Amino acid sequence: MRKILITGGAGFIGSHVVRKFVNKYPDYAIVNLDKLTYAGNLANLTDIEDKPNYTFIKADITDAIEINELFKRENFDAVIHLAAESHVDRSITDPSAFVMTNVIGTVNLLNAAREYWKGKYDEKRFYHVSTDEVYGALGESGMFTETTAYDPHSPYSASKASSDHFVRAYHDTYGLDIVISNCSNNYGSHHFPEKLIPLAINNIKNNKPVPVYGKGENVRDWLWVEDHARAIDVIFHQAKSGQTYNIGGHNEWKNIDLIHLLCSIMDKKLGRDPGESAKLITFVVDRAGHDLRYAIDSAKLQNELDWVPSLQFEEGLEKTVAWYLDNEEWLTNVTTGNYQAYYDKQYKGR
Ligand code: NAD
Ligand code: DAU
Repeated sequence: MRKILITGGAGFIGSHVVRKFVNKYPDYAIVNLDKLTYAGNLANLTDIEDKPNYTFIKADITDAIEINELFKRENFDAVIHLAAESHVDRSITDPSAFVMTNVIGTVNLLNAAREYWKGKYDEKRFYHVSTDEVYGALGESGMFTETTAYDPHSPYSASKASSDHFVRAYHDTYGLDIVISNCSNNYGSHHFPEKLIPLAINNIKNNKPVPVYGKGENVRDWLWVEDHARAIDVIFHQAKSGQTYNIGGHNEWKNIDLIHLLCSIMDKKLGRDPGESAKLITFVVDRAGHDLRYAIDSAKLQNELDWVPSLQFEEGLEKTVAWYLDNEEWLTNVTTGNYQAYYDKQYKGR
């Protein structure tokens, strides 16, 4: 049996990765470690929480003592590290939280792996889930490849770039088996409604203004979250040690065009007249240091490991809207803060 520590498994992408691994690999013991910050929601995992190969541990990766004790006790075979502060706007308000979790937290995990995996590095694996934002911003043309120089602009992307560098340094210096993937913007179910797509869905549903930063000209490359989880599965199992893979959807959208598409889907789903939801679009002051454009070249992943995105964007967006409208309770619990009581109700005393 392989025992895999997945960090940040109560978050958006982490919950999809945990679900995939728990369901696909009944012989693996999947340990989900999460601090349950505002972004962690155990209600994301109700469908798998009672599976025999799944365990949840509430812990903070910035606590080196707790992380060391855990590694000493558990004999993990691998780590898939997703725990992070993930929202760019919050990093502009409070960069320190991003340094603590994304840099110090990652180094704490690396130190524990270095210490407790000694003599067995070739049997173990440390997988860091990272972002395309480490590469900075593109102009009108070009794409990020795995050899694009790092040039982060926001405190969030600077912290993720730093953690990527530490992960590589532990490979080069100590010989840890590591892999890193850098992915573009994800969308799908269980996405916290501070990020553009779920925020817009929630606001349109409630007839509230949809804030578009600046002129809405910024471009993001959107990937369905389940395609990201599938890429992580493939890379985790097949990549050679020390490798990096870019993951992306070849699916670039200007924010304003995306919001118009979303409004037209919402009009149909909510039985509104065409154009009604678009009246909610409100241009607001731009994000500081707002990266103009991201676009991922994922040819290496496609050619070497045979991964391609499975879902067209319009279809994925319709599925996503349908999920939010069908899961009103999830959304209400998140927006009211009730979701934070789920741990006490379901897990305390287990
Ligand atoms: P998220 O904010 O939804 O989830 C992050 C999770 O980490 C939460 O469950 C939170 O409770 C947990 N966490 C935060 N601080 C912690 C700490 N100190 N100790 C333990 N757990 C902690 O984030 P997400 O969007 O699911 O992103 C997951 C990972 O993927 C991040 O590393 C992010 O940088 C990366 N990523 C995200 C995207 C995207 O589009 N969302 C794209 C590429 C890469
Ligand atoms: O590229 C990968 C990154 O994508 C991940 O590493 C991050 O964790 C993730 O949060 C995401 O970052 P972005 O900043 O691109 O995502 P966000 O949803 O915050 O914003 C998407 C775009 O929409 C961006 O250009 C800013 C803009 N925006 C965002 C919000 C929240 C708006 O115009 N209005 C908004 O209200």
